[in-house]
Amino acid sequence: MYRIAIITASDKGAKGERADKSGPVIREMCQGFGEVSSYAILADEREEIAQALRKICDEDLADVVFTTGGTGFSPRDVTPEATMDVVERPTPGIPEAMRARSLQVTDRAMLTRAAAGIRKGTLIVILPGSPKAVRECLEVILPPLGHGIDILRGRAGECARQG
Ligand code: MTE
Repeated sequence: MYRIAIITASDKGAKGERADKSGPVIREMCQGFGEVSSYAILADEREEIAQALRKICDEDLADVVFTTGGTGFSPRDVTPEATMDVVERPTPGIPEAMRARSLQVTDRAMLTRAAAGIRKGTLIVILPGSPKAVRECLEVILPPLGHGIDILRGRAGECARQG
């Protein structure tokens, strides 16, 4: 079981003006994959999000951080920038897989600037904001993710050949 930190980036959510529907979808989809070690709703503020990510990674509070929201084209959408401020090693295959799968559902999937990367021993994955998008993205990335985390944490043996 992996330790999962969830961050929802939403100005309205942080002010209590909108209920967070996407964070709970992450929690639900991760049942059987891991346990939620922290959950926060933050405003769409680059430095605030970056600071929260740094703390989780540097204090080893989670194996994986899933963020949701703030990946689009609005001027307030800064989650990818906040994440890339702290990432040491980008992991482009993860957002590539999310977009490849999501484009089969909606051509608007090309409008997410979702990204992912590693800081120290923690993987950060940015998901789009809608609960539907979160579900569609986690469906494709969760199955192989444990293997990646095991390698990152030095717990995996050889990669088993598939196919
Ligand atoms: N990805 C999937 N799988 N399903 C979706 O419905 N919506 C898209 C895209 N990615 C969508 C998706 C839309 S409409 C937008 S604007 C972007 O994600 C950015 O969303 P965000 O700003 O809420 O993060």
